[in-house]
Amino acid sequence: MSILTLPTTPFEGQKPGTSGLRKKVAVFRQPRYLENFVQALFDELHGPDGRADGQTLVLGGDGRHHNRVAIQVILRMAAACGYGRVLVGRGGILSTPAVSAVIRRRQAAGGIVLSASHNPGGPDGDFGIKYNATNGGPAPEALTEAVHRRTLSLTRYRISDAADLPIERPGSHRIEDTVVDVIDPVADHADVLRELFDFDAIRALFARGFRLRCDAMWAVGGPAARAILEGELGAPAGTVVNAEPKEDFGGLHPDPNPVYADDLVAHLMAADAPDMGAATDGDADRNMILGRGFVVSPSDSLAVLAAHARLVPGYRRGLAGVARSMPTSTAVDRVAGALGIACHETPTGWKFFGNLLDAGQVTLCGEESYGTGSDHVREKDGLWAILFWLNLVAVTGRGVEDLVRGLWVEHGRCVYSRHDYEGIPTERADALMAELRGRLPELGGRTVADQRIAWADDFAYTDPVDGSVSRRQGVRVVLEDASRVVFRLSGTGTEGATLRIYLERHEPDPTRHDLPAQQALAPLVRLAGELARIVAHTGMTAPTVMT
Ligand code: G1P
Ligand code: ZN
Repeated sequence: MSILTLPTTPFEGQKPGTSGLRKKVAVFRQPRYLENFVQALFDELHGPDGRADGQTLVLGGDGRHHNRVAIQVILRMAAACGYGRVLVGRGGILSTPAVSAVIRRRQAAGGIVLSASHNPGGPDGDFGIKYNATNGGPAPEALTEAVHRRTLSLTRYRISDAADLPIERPGSHRIEDTVVDVIDPVADHADVLRELFDFDAIRALFARGFRLRCDAMWAVGGPAARAILEGELGAPAGTVVNAEPKEDFGGLHPDPNPVYADDLVAHLMAADAPDMGAATDGDADRNMILGRGFVVSPSDSLAVLAAHARLVPGYRRGLAGVARSMPTSTAVDRVAGALGIACHETPTGWKFFGNLLDAGQVTLCGEESYGTGSDHVREKDGLWAILFWLNLVAVTGRGVEDLVRGLWVEHGRCVYSRHDYEGIPTERADALMAELRGRLPELGGRTVADQRIAWADDFAYTDPVDGSVSRRQGVRVVLEDASRVVFRLSGTGTEGATLRIYLERHEPDPTRHDLPAQQALAPLVRLAGELARIVAHTGMTAPTVMT
Protein backbone atom coordinates (compact mmCIF):
# COMPACT_ATOMS: atom_id res chain seq x y z
CA MET A 1 0.00 0.00 0.00
CA SER A 2 1.22 3.49 -0.72
CA ILE A 3 -0.11 7.00 -1.01
CA LEU A 4 -0.10 8.43 -4.51
CA THR A 5 -0.12 12.09 -5.49
CA LEU A 6 -1.82 12.29 -8.86
CA PRO A 7 -2.16 15.27 -11.20
CA THR A 8 -5.57 16.72 -11.95
CA THR A 9 -7.20 19.75 -13.56
CA PRO A 10 -10.25 21.64 -12.31
CA PHE A 11 -13.86 20.93 -13.27
CA GLU A 12 -16.25 23.81 -13.73
CA GLY A 13 -19.40 23.97 -11.65
CA GLN A 14 -18.39 22.11 -8.49
CA LYS A 15 -20.44 24.58 -6.51
CA PRO A 16 -22.54 23.20 -3.66
CA GLY A 17 -26.16 24.36 -3.70
CA THR A 18 -28.83 24.37 -1.00
CA SER A 19 -27.60 21.01 0.22
CA GLY A 20 -24.23 19.92 -1.15
CA LEU A 21 -22.97 19.24 -4.66
CA ARG A 22 -25.60 17.49 -6.80
CA LYS A 23 -25.09 16.34 -10.36
CA LYS A 24 -26.15 13.57 -12.69
CA VAL A 25 -24.48 10.21 -11.99
CA ALA A 26 -22.79 10.51 -15.40
CA VAL A 27 -21.08 13.71 -14.25
CA PHE A 28 -19.82 12.09 -11.04
CA ARG A 29 -18.60 9.10 -13.03
CA GLN A 30 -16.04 11.16 -14.94
CA PRO A 31 -12.52 10.27 -13.86
CA ARG A 32 -11.24 12.60 -11.09
CA TYR A 33 -14.59 14.40 -10.66
CA LEU A 34 -15.38 13.06 -7.19
CA GLU A 35 -11.68 12.99 -6.30
CA ASN A 36 -11.33 16.70 -7.08
CA PHE A 37 -14.24 17.71 -4.89
CA VAL A 38 -13.12 15.56 -1.98
CA GLN A 39 -9.54 16.84 -2.25
CA ALA A 40 -10.77 20.44 -2.30
CA LEU A 41 -12.78 19.69 0.82
CA PHE A 42 -9.83 18.08 2.59
CA ASP A 43 -7.55 20.96 1.55
CA GLU A 44 -9.98 23.46 3.07
CA LEU A 45 -10.42 21.43 6.24
CA HIS A 46 -6.82 20.47 6.84
CA GLY A 47 -4.68 22.94 4.87
CA PRO A 48 -2.98 22.37 1.52
CA ASP A 49 -0.61 19.70 2.84
CA GLY A 50 -3.45 18.54 4.99
CA ARG A 51 -3.06 15.79 7.46
CA ALA A 52 -6.18 15.08 9.48
CA ASP A 53 -4.05 13.37 12.08
CA GLY A 54 -6.01 11.42 14.59
CA GLN A 55 -9.39 12.83 13.55
CA THR A 56 -12.46 10.72 13.00
CA LEU A 57 -14.54 11.00 9.81
CA VAL A 58 -18.01 9.53 9.40
CA LEU A 59 -18.89 8.25 5.92
CA GLY A 60 -22.11 6.93 4.46
CA GLY A 61 -24.74 7.48 1.84
CA ASP A 62 -28.31 6.77 0.89
CA GLY A 63 -27.29 3.75 -1.18
CA ARG A 64 -28.25 5.19 -4.53
CA HIS A 65 -26.48 4.16 -7.73
CA HIS A 66 -22.73 5.03 -7.59
CA ASN A 67 -22.72 4.98 -3.75
CA ARG A 68 -20.53 1.88 -3.53
CA VAL A 69 -17.89 3.14 -5.95
CA ALA A 70 -17.74 6.58 -4.32
CA ILE A 71 -17.41 5.15 -0.81
CA GLN A 72 -14.29 3.17 -1.74
CA VAL A 73 -12.67 6.21 -3.40
CA ILE A 74 -13.35 8.40 -0.35
CA LEU A 75 -12.01 5.74 2.04
CA ARG A 76 -8.72 5.69 0.11
CA MET A 77 -8.56 9.51 0.03
CA ALA A 78 -9.35 9.81 3.75
CA ALA A 79 -6.47 7.43 4.44
CA ALA A 80 -4.17 9.55 2.27
CA CYS A 81 -5.30 12.59 4.24
CA GLY A 82 -4.26 10.93 7.47
CA TYR A 83 -7.58 10.51 9.26
CA GLY A 84 -7.10 8.39 12.37
CA ARG A 85 -10.37 6.60 11.92
CA VAL A 86 -13.24 6.44 9.45
CA LEU A 87 -16.62 5.18 10.63
CA VAL A 88 -18.39 3.88 7.56
CA GLY A 89 -21.95 2.60 7.55
CA ARG A 90 -22.29 -1.10 6.73
CA GLY A 91 -22.54 -1.46 2.95
CA GLY A 92 -21.68 2.25 2.69
CA ILE A 93 -25.15 3.08 3.98
CA LEU A 94 -26.13 5.80 6.45
CA SER A 95 -29.24 7.96 6.28
CA THR A 96 -28.65 11.70 6.57
CA PRO A 97 -29.98 11.96 10.14
CA ALA A 98 -27.96 8.85 11.03
CA VAL A 99 -24.74 10.54 9.85
CA SER A 100 -25.60 13.48 12.05
CA ALA A 101 -26.27 11.23 15.04
CA VAL A 102 -23.04 9.27 14.57
CA ILE A 103 -20.91 12.43 14.26
CA ARG A 104 -22.35 13.79 17.48
CA ARG A 105 -22.29 10.61 19.55
CA ARG A 106 -18.80 9.52 18.51
CA GLN A 107 -17.25 12.99 18.69
CA ALA A 108 -16.16 12.82 15.07
CA ALA A 109 -14.57 15.80 13.34
CA GLY A 110 -17.22 15.63 10.65
CA GLY A 111 -18.84 13.43 8.08
CA ILE A 112 -19.40 12.98 4.37
CA VAL A 113 -22.92 12.20 3.19
CA LEU A 114 -23.41 10.75 -0.27
CA SER A 115 -26.94 11.59 -1.30
CA ALA A 116 -29.07 13.57 -3.68
CA SER A 117 -31.89 13.39 -1.15
CA HIS A 118 -35.28 13.13 -2.85
CA ASN A 119 -33.93 13.40 -6.41
CA PRO A 120 -34.38 10.28 -8.56
CA GLY A 121 -31.52 7.75 -8.59
CA GLY A 122 -30.23 5.02 -10.90
CA PRO A 123 -27.64 5.31 -13.68
CA ASP A 124 -29.53 8.21 -15.30
CA GLY A 125 -30.47 9.82 -12.00
CA ASP A 126 -28.70 12.15 -9.60
CA PHE A 127 -25.84 11.75 -7.18
CA GLY A 128 -24.56 14.11 -4.52
CA ILE A 129 -22.02 14.75 -1.81
CA LYS A 130 -22.01 17.05 1.17
CA TYR A 131 -19.92 17.64 4.27
CA ASN A 132 -21.31 17.86 7.78
CA ALA A 133 -19.29 19.57 10.48
CA THR A 134 -18.46 18.61 14.08
CA ASN A 135 -21.92 19.64 15.27
CA GLY A 136 -23.39 17.04 12.91
CA GLY A 137 -24.95 19.67 10.66
CA PRO A 138 -24.42 20.73 7.04
CA ALA A 139 -21.29 22.82 6.53
CA PRO A 140 -21.93 26.55 6.68
CA GLU A 141 -21.85 28.63 3.49
CA ALA A 142 -18.38 30.00 4.25
CA LEU A 143 -16.92 26.48 4.00
CA THR A 144 -18.92 25.35 0.95
CA GLU A 145 -17.91 28.53 -0.89
CA ALA A 146 -14.26 28.05 0.04
CA VAL A 147 -14.39 24.45 -1.21
CA HIS A 148 -15.84 25.65 -4.50
CA ARG A 149 -13.06 28.22 -4.91
CA ARG A 150 -10.51 25.54 -4.12
CA THR A 151 -11.91 23.22 -6.82
CA LEU A 152 -11.05 25.89 -9.39
CA SER A 153 -7.31 25.78 -8.75
CA LEU A 154 -6.71 22.14 -7.94
CA THR A 155 -3.62 20.56 -9.50
CA ARG A 156 -3.28 17.26 -7.64
CA TYR A 157 -5.11 14.86 -5.38
CA ARG A 158 -3.87 12.26 -2.97
CA ILE A 159 -5.16 8.73 -2.69
CA SER A 160 -3.99 5.40 -1.35
CA ASP A 161 -3.64 2.59 -3.87
CA ALA A 162 -5.13 0.12 -1.39
CA ALA A 163 -7.69 -2.42 -2.60
CA ASP A 164 -11.44 -2.05 -2.00
CA LEU A 165 -12.47 -2.90 1.56
CA PRO A 166 -15.15 -5.49 2.32
CA ILE A 167 -17.63 -3.21 4.07
CA GLU A 168 -20.73 -5.38 3.66
CA ARG A 169 -20.15 -6.89 7.11
CA PRO A 170 -19.30 -5.35 10.49
CA GLY A 171 -15.58 -5.30 11.11
CA SER A 172 -12.45 -3.26 11.43
CA HIS A 173 -9.93 -2.71 8.66
CA ARG A 174 -6.91 -0.61 7.94
CA ILE A 175 -5.83 1.50 4.95
CA GLU A 176 -2.37 2.98 5.44
CA ASP A 177 -2.47 4.26 9.06
CA THR A 178 -6.22 4.81 9.05
CA VAL A 179 -8.55 2.46 10.90
CA VAL A 180 -11.82 1.88 9.07
CA ASP A 181 -14.64 0.66 11.29
CA VAL A 182 -17.78 -0.66 9.64
CA ILE A 183 -20.67 0.40 11.86
CA ASP A 184 -24.35 -0.49 12.14
CA PRO A 185 -26.23 2.10 10.05
CA VAL A 186 -29.18 2.31 12.44
CA ALA A 187 -27.93 1.82 16.03
CA ASP A 188 -26.66 5.31 17.00
CA HIS A 189 -29.64 7.05 15.48
CA ALA A 190 -32.07 4.64 17.12
CA ASP A 191 -30.41 5.28 20.51
CA VAL A 192 -31.02 9.00 20.10
CA LEU A 193 -34.67 8.49 19.16
CA ARG A 194 -35.29 6.09 22.04
CA GLU A 195 -34.21 8.80 24.49
CA LEU A 196 -36.77 11.28 23.14
CA PHE A 197 -40.05 9.44 22.81
CA ASP A 198 -42.38 7.45 25.03
CA PHE A 199 -41.92 4.07 23.38
CA ASP A 200 -44.23 2.40 25.93
CA ALA A 201 -47.09 4.73 25.02
CA ILE A 202 -46.54 4.13 21.30
CA ARG A 203 -46.34 0.37 21.89
CA ALA A 204 -49.67 0.54 23.72
CA LEU A 205 -51.15 2.52 20.83
CA PHE A 206 -50.24 -0.21 18.35
CA ALA A 207 -51.43 -2.86 20.82
CA ARG A 208 -54.84 -1.14 20.79
CA GLY A 209 -54.98 -1.76 17.03
CA PHE A 210 -53.81 1.62 15.71
CA ARG A 211 -52.93 1.23 12.04
CA LEU A 212 -50.03 3.05 10.40
CA ARG A 213 -48.83 2.79 6.82
CA CYS A 214 -45.25 3.98 6.54
CA ASP A 215 -43.88 4.23 2.99
CA ALA A 216 -40.07 4.24 2.86
CA MET A 217 -40.16 4.83 -0.90
CA TRP A 218 -37.61 2.05 -1.58
CA ALA A 219 -35.02 4.18 0.16
CA VAL A 220 -32.58 4.16 3.05
CA GLY A 221 -35.24 4.90 5.71
CA GLY A 222 -36.80 1.46 5.31
CA PRO A 223 -34.56 -0.66 7.55
CA ALA A 224 -34.60 1.82 10.46
CA ALA A 225 -38.36 2.33 10.22
CA ARG A 226 -38.94 -1.41 10.13
CA ALA A 227 -36.57 -2.09 13.05
CA ILE A 228 -38.15 0.55 15.27
CA LEU A 229 -41.83 0.56 14.27
CA GLU A 230 -42.31 -3.15 13.68
CA GLY A 231 -39.39 -4.55 15.69
CA GLU A 232 -39.52 -2.45 18.84
CA LEU A 233 -42.91 -0.80 18.91
CA GLY A 234 -44.98 -3.80 17.92
CA ALA A 235 -46.58 -2.38 14.78
CA PRO A 236 -47.81 -5.31 12.67
CA ALA A 237 -45.47 -6.71 10.01
CA GLY A 238 -46.15 -4.89 6.76
CA THR A 239 -46.66 -1.51 8.46
CA VAL A 240 -43.54 -0.27 6.68
CA VAL A 241 -43.88 -0.74 2.93
CA ASN A 242 -41.37 -0.28 0.11
CA ALA A 243 -38.79 -0.82 2.84
CA GLU A 244 -35.96 -2.49 0.92
CA PRO A 245 -33.51 0.18 -0.23
CA LYS A 246 -32.91 0.10 -3.99
CA GLU A 247 -30.18 1.83 -5.93
CA ASP A 248 -32.79 3.41 -8.19
CA PHE A 249 -35.66 3.73 -5.68
CA GLY A 250 -37.67 1.35 -7.84
CA GLY A 251 -37.52 3.89 -10.65
CA LEU A 252 -39.65 6.30 -8.60
CA HIS A 253 -39.06 9.80 -7.30
CA PRO A 254 -38.33 9.32 -3.58
CA ASP A 255 -39.90 12.57 -2.43
CA PRO A 256 -42.59 12.31 0.25
CA ASN A 257 -45.17 14.76 -1.03
CA PRO A 258 -48.69 14.15 -2.33
CA VAL A 259 -47.49 14.16 -5.94
CA TYR A 260 -44.68 11.60 -5.70
CA ALA A 261 -46.07 9.58 -2.78
CA ASP A 262 -49.43 9.30 -4.53
CA ASP A 263 -49.71 5.60 -3.72
CA LEU A 264 -49.60 6.37 0.00
CA VAL A 265 -52.15 9.15 -0.43
CA ALA A 266 -54.45 6.73 -2.28
CA HIS A 267 -54.23 4.26 0.63
CA LEU A 268 -55.10 6.97 3.14
CA MET A 269 -58.06 8.13 1.05
CA ALA A 270 -59.49 4.60 0.65
CA ALA A 271 -62.55 3.36 2.51
CA ASP A 272 -60.53 1.03 4.76
CA ALA A 273 -57.71 3.53 5.26
CA PRO A 274 -55.29 3.14 8.16
CA ASP A 275 -55.33 5.71 10.98
CA MET A 276 -52.11 7.39 9.92
CA GLY A 277 -49.80 7.50 6.94
CA ALA A 278 -46.18 8.56 6.73
CA ALA A 279 -43.40 8.61 4.17
CA THR A 280 -39.70 9.41 4.14
CA ASP A 281 -37.43 10.40 1.25
CA GLY A 282 -34.29 9.09 -0.47
CA ASP A 283 -31.98 9.83 2.48
CA ALA A 284 -34.72 9.63 5.14
CA ASP A 285 -34.52 13.20 6.38
CA ARG A 286 -37.83 14.38 4.90
CA ASN A 287 -41.27 13.25 6.05
CA MET A 288 -44.90 13.52 5.08
CA ILE A 289 -47.67 12.82 7.59
CA LEU A 290 -51.27 11.92 6.76
CA GLY A 291 -54.36 11.17 8.75
CA ARG A 292 -57.21 9.03 7.49
CA GLY A 293 -58.44 10.92 4.41
CA PHE A 294 -56.31 13.90 5.37
CA VAL A 295 -52.92 15.25 4.24
CA VAL A 296 -50.97 17.32 6.78
CA SER A 297 -49.05 20.25 5.31
CA PRO A 298 -45.44 20.36 6.52
CA SER A 299 -45.89 23.87 7.90
CA ASP A 300 -48.89 22.72 9.94
CA SER A 301 -46.98 19.65 11.07
CA LEU A 302 -44.22 21.80 12.54
CA ALA A 303 -46.79 24.00 14.29
CA VAL A 304 -48.63 21.01 15.81
CA LEU A 305 -45.39 19.47 17.09
CA ALA A 306 -44.38 22.79 18.62
CA ALA A 307 -47.78 23.31 20.24
CA HIS A 308 -47.76 19.90 21.97
CA ALA A 309 -44.04 19.34 22.47
CA ARG A 310 -44.28 19.22 26.25
CA LEU A 311 -46.28 15.99 25.99
CA VAL A 312 -43.21 14.22 24.62
CA PRO A 313 -40.49 13.16 27.10
CA GLY A 314 -37.58 14.68 25.18
CA TYR A 315 -39.25 18.11 25.16
CA ARG A 316 -40.99 18.02 28.53
CA ARG A 317 -39.14 21.11 29.73
CA GLY A 318 -40.54 23.13 26.85
CA LEU A 319 -38.96 24.70 23.81
CA ALA A 320 -36.19 27.30 23.88
CA GLY A 321 -37.53 28.68 20.63
CA VAL A 322 -38.49 27.55 17.14
CA ALA A 323 -37.26 28.33 13.65
CA ARG A 324 -38.67 27.98 10.16
CA SER A 325 -37.33 28.73 6.73
CA MET A 326 -38.66 31.97 5.30
CA PRO A 327 -41.06 30.41 2.75
CA THR A 328 -42.55 28.07 5.39
CA SER A 329 -45.99 29.23 6.56
CA THR A 330 -46.40 31.39 9.63
CA ALA A 331 -48.44 28.75 11.49
CA VAL A 332 -45.54 28.02 13.83
CA ASP A 333 -45.05 31.75 14.46
CA ARG A 334 -48.58 31.88 15.87
CA VAL A 335 -47.93 28.89 18.11
CA ALA A 336 -44.65 30.40 19.29
CA GLY A 337 -46.46 33.65 20.04
CA ALA A 338 -48.98 31.79 22.20
CA LEU A 339 -46.20 29.89 23.97
CA GLY A 340 -44.22 33.09 24.53
CA ILE A 341 -41.11 31.80 22.78
CA ALA A 342 -39.04 33.23 19.94
CA CYS A 343 -39.62 32.19 16.32
CA HIS A 344 -36.70 32.68 13.93
CA GLU A 345 -37.07 33.06 10.18
CA THR A 346 -34.07 31.69 8.26
CA PRO A 347 -33.20 31.25 4.57
CA THR A 348 -34.08 27.99 2.84
CA GLY A 349 -31.75 25.10 3.71
CA TRP A 350 -31.12 23.18 6.90
CA LYS A 351 -27.63 24.64 7.33
CA PHE A 352 -29.14 27.89 8.54
CA PHE A 353 -30.65 26.20 11.62
CA GLY A 354 -27.28 24.93 12.86
CA ASN A 355 -26.06 27.99 14.73
CA LEU A 356 -29.43 28.58 16.41
CA LEU A 357 -29.58 24.96 17.55
CA ASP A 358 -25.95 24.97 18.73
CA ALA A 359 -26.53 28.17 20.69
CA GLY A 360 -29.56 26.66 22.40
CA GLN A 361 -31.84 29.35 20.96
CA VAL A 362 -34.20 26.95 19.23
CA THR A 363 -35.36 23.41 19.94
CA LEU A 364 -37.62 22.61 16.96
CA CYS A 365 -37.27 23.74 13.37
CA GLY A 366 -38.75 22.97 10.00
CA GLU A 367 -39.29 23.77 6.36
CA GLU A 368 -42.30 23.69 4.06
CA SER A 369 -40.40 21.17 1.92
CA TYR A 370 -41.38 18.27 4.18
CA GLY A 371 -38.53 18.74 6.65
CA THR A 372 -38.92 18.76 10.41
CA GLY A 373 -36.38 18.28 13.15
CA SER A 374 -34.98 19.33 16.50
CA ASP A 375 -31.81 19.78 18.48
CA HIS A 376 -31.38 15.98 18.85
CA VAL A 377 -29.30 16.01 15.64
CA ARG A 378 -28.39 18.74 13.16
CA GLU A 379 -30.36 17.42 10.18
CA LYS A 380 -34.03 17.09 9.52
CA ASP A 381 -35.20 13.66 10.51
CA GLY A 382 -38.03 11.71 8.92
CA LEU A 383 -38.37 8.91 11.46
CA TRP A 384 -38.14 11.42 14.31
CA ALA A 385 -41.18 13.25 12.90
CA ILE A 386 -43.15 10.02 12.54
CA LEU A 387 -42.38 9.00 16.12
CA PHE A 388 -43.26 12.48 17.39
CA TRP A 389 -46.70 12.25 15.75
CA LEU A 390 -47.24 8.71 17.05
CA ASN A 391 -46.26 9.85 20.54
CA LEU A 392 -48.74 12.75 20.38
CA VAL A 393 -51.54 10.56 19.08
CA ALA A 394 -50.79 7.98 21.77
CA VAL A 395 -50.85 10.36 24.73
CA THR A 396 -53.62 12.71 23.59
CA GLY A 397 -55.95 10.03 22.26
CA ARG A 398 -56.60 12.39 19.33
CA GLY A 399 -56.22 11.50 15.67
CA VAL A 400 -53.92 13.22 13.19
CA GLU A 401 -56.67 15.26 11.55
CA ASP A 402 -58.11 16.27 14.91
CA LEU A 403 -54.75 17.61 16.06
CA VAL A 404 -54.39 19.71 12.91
CA ARG A 405 -57.98 21.00 13.10
CA GLY A 406 -57.32 21.93 16.72
CA LEU A 407 -54.42 24.08 15.53
CA TRP A 408 -56.66 25.78 12.95
CA VAL A 409 -59.40 26.47 15.49
CA GLU A 410 -56.95 28.05 17.89
CA HIS A 411 -54.80 30.03 15.47
CA GLY A 412 -56.69 30.11 12.17
CA ARG A 413 -55.55 28.14 9.15
CA CYS A 414 -52.50 29.20 7.18
CA VAL A 415 -53.70 28.01 3.79
CA TYR A 416 -50.57 27.10 1.91
CA SER A 417 -49.28 25.78 -1.38
CA ARG A 418 -46.05 25.62 -3.34
CA HIS A 419 -46.03 25.73 -7.13
CA ASP A 420 -42.90 24.52 -8.89
CA TYR A 421 -42.04 25.28 -12.50
CA GLU A 422 -39.34 22.75 -13.33
CA GLY A 423 -36.96 22.51 -16.25
CA ILE A 424 -36.89 26.19 -17.20
CA PRO A 425 -33.83 27.15 -19.26
CA THR A 426 -31.50 28.80 -16.74
CA GLU A 427 -31.23 32.13 -18.60
CA ARG A 428 -35.00 32.48 -18.70
CA ALA A 429 -35.42 31.76 -15.01
CA ASP A 430 -32.62 34.21 -14.21
CA ALA A 431 -34.28 36.85 -16.39
CA LEU A 432 -37.60 36.35 -14.59
CA MET A 433 -36.00 36.78 -11.18
CA ALA A 434 -33.93 39.78 -12.34
CA GLU A 435 -37.03 41.53 -13.65
CA LEU A 436 -38.89 40.83 -10.43
CA ARG A 437 -36.01 42.13 -8.35
CA GLY A 438 -35.81 45.21 -10.54
CA ARG A 439 -39.47 45.97 -9.86
CA LEU A 440 -39.19 45.60 -6.08
CA PRO A 441 -38.82 49.30 -5.22
CA GLU A 442 -42.10 50.20 -6.96
CA LEU A 443 -44.29 47.38 -5.63
CA GLY A 444 -45.21 48.69 -2.16
CA GLY A 445 -48.67 50.32 -2.31
CA ARG A 446 -49.34 49.06 -5.87
CA THR A 447 -52.44 47.09 -6.83
CA VAL A 448 -51.75 44.04 -8.98
CA ALA A 449 -54.41 41.53 -10.04
CA ASP A 450 -56.88 43.46 -7.87
CA GLN A 451 -54.81 43.03 -4.75
CA ARG A 452 -53.00 45.70 -2.84
CA ILE A 453 -49.37 45.02 -2.05
CA ALA A 454 -48.21 46.30 1.35
CA TRP A 455 -44.50 45.69 0.89
CA ALA A 456 -42.02 43.61 -1.04
CA ASP A 457 -38.35 42.81 -0.59
CA ASP A 458 -35.55 40.35 -1.31
CA PHE A 459 -35.07 38.37 1.89
CA ALA A 460 -31.71 38.89 3.61
CA TYR A 461 -30.70 37.10 6.79
CA THR A 462 -28.22 38.04 9.45
CA ASP A 463 -27.31 35.04 11.56
CA PRO A 464 -27.88 36.15 15.17
CA VAL A 465 -25.10 33.89 16.42
CA ASP A 466 -22.14 34.59 14.12
CA GLY A 467 -23.35 37.72 12.35
CA SER A 468 -22.90 36.25 8.86
CA VAL A 469 -25.18 37.76 6.24
CA SER A 470 -26.96 35.85 3.45
CA ARG A 471 -28.60 38.03 0.81
CA ARG A 472 -30.92 37.42 -2.15
CA GLN A 473 -32.72 34.54 -0.45
CA GLY A 474 -36.07 35.02 -2.17
CA VAL A 475 -38.46 37.75 -3.26
CA ARG A 476 -41.31 38.31 -0.81
CA VAL A 477 -44.48 40.11 -1.82
CA VAL A 478 -46.79 40.74 1.11
CA LEU A 479 -50.38 41.99 0.89
CA GLU A 480 -52.18 44.21 3.36
CA ASP A 481 -53.89 41.20 4.99
CA ALA A 482 -50.40 39.58 5.42
CA SER A 483 -51.05 37.05 2.63
CA ARG A 484 -47.84 36.51 0.74
CA VAL A 485 -46.20 35.18 -2.36
CA VAL A 486 -42.53 34.20 -2.30
CA PHE A 487 -40.41 33.59 -5.40
CA ARG A 488 -37.05 31.82 -5.45
CA LEU A 489 -35.03 29.50 -7.64
CA SER A 490 -34.20 26.01 -6.41
CA GLY A 491 -30.63 25.27 -5.42
CA THR A 492 -30.85 21.48 -5.54
CA GLY A 493 -31.76 20.67 -9.13
CA THR A 494 -29.43 19.19 -11.73
CA GLU A 495 -31.22 20.18 -14.94
CA GLY A 496 -32.10 23.74 -15.92
CA ALA A 497 -33.76 25.88 -13.28
CA THR A 498 -36.78 25.35 -11.05
CA LEU A 499 -38.87 28.35 -10.06
CA ARG A 500 -40.59 27.88 -6.71
CA ILE A 501 -43.59 30.01 -5.84
CA TYR A 502 -44.83 29.80 -2.26
CA LEU A 503 -48.37 30.98 -1.53
CA GLU A 504 -49.84 31.64 1.89
CA ARG A 505 -53.08 33.15 3.16
CA HIS A 506 -54.31 33.18 6.73
CA GLU A 507 -57.95 32.13 7.19
CA PRO A 508 -59.33 32.83 10.67
CA ASP A 509 -62.92 31.78 9.83
CA PRO A 510 -63.47 28.10 10.76
CA THR A 511 -66.40 27.80 8.34
CA ARG A 512 -63.91 28.39 5.52
CA HIS A 513 -61.20 25.99 6.69
CA ASP A 514 -62.36 23.25 4.32
CA LEU A 515 -62.05 25.27 1.13
CA PRO A 516 -59.53 23.45 -1.08
CA ALA A 517 -56.18 25.25 -0.81
CA GLN A 518 -55.87 25.87 -4.56
CA GLN A 519 -59.28 27.55 -4.57
CA ALA A 520 -58.54 29.66 -1.51
CA LEU A 521 -55.23 30.72 -3.00
CA ALA A 522 -56.45 31.40 -6.55
CA PRO A 523 -56.20 35.22 -6.24
CA LEU A 524 -52.60 34.89 -5.07
CA VAL A 525 -51.82 32.58 -7.97
CA ARG A 526 -53.13 35.25 -10.35
CA LEU A 527 -51.03 37.87 -8.62
CA ALA A 528 -47.91 35.71 -8.88
CA GLY A 529 -48.50 35.05 -12.58
CA GLU A 530 -48.96 38.72 -13.39
CA LEU A 531 -46.12 40.01 -11.25
CA ALA A 532 -43.50 37.59 -12.51
CA ARG A 533 -44.88 37.37 -16.07
CA ILE A 534 -44.45 33.63 -15.79
CA VAL A 535 -45.99 32.70 -19.13
CA ALA A 536 -44.02 35.35 -21.01
CA HIS A 537 -40.72 34.29 -19.45
CA THR A 538 -41.12 30.54 -19.38
CA GLY A 539 -43.80 29.70 -21.92
CA MET A 540 -45.37 27.55 -19.21
CA THR A 541 -49.02 28.02 -18.38
CA ALA A 542 -49.13 25.82 -15.29
CA PRO A 543 -46.73 24.54 -12.65
CA THR A 544 -45.21 21.08 -13.13
CA VAL A 545 -45.65 20.20 -9.44
CA MET A 546 -48.10 21.58 -6.89
CA THR A 547 -47.87 20.61 -3.24
C1 G1P B 1 -35.03 22.15 -1.35
C2 G1P B 1 -36.02 22.67 -0.36
C3 G1P B 1 -35.31 23.13 0.90
C4 G1P B 1 -34.49 21.97 1.46
C5 G1P B 1 -33.57 21.42 0.39
C6 G1P B 1 -32.84 20.17 0.85
O1 G1P B 1 -34.12 23.17 -1.72
O2 G1P B 1 -36.77 23.74 -0.89
O3 G1P B 1 -36.25 23.55 1.84
O4 G1P B 1 -33.73 22.38 2.56
O5 G1P B 1 -34.32 21.08 -0.78
O6 G1P B 1 -33.72 19.15 1.22
P1 G1P B 1 -34.28 24.05 -3.06
O7 G1P B 1 -34.33 23.08 -4.20
O8 G1P B 1 -35.57 24.78 -2.92
O9 G1P B 1 -33.09 24.96 -3.08
ZN1 ZN C 1 -33.56 14.30 1.88
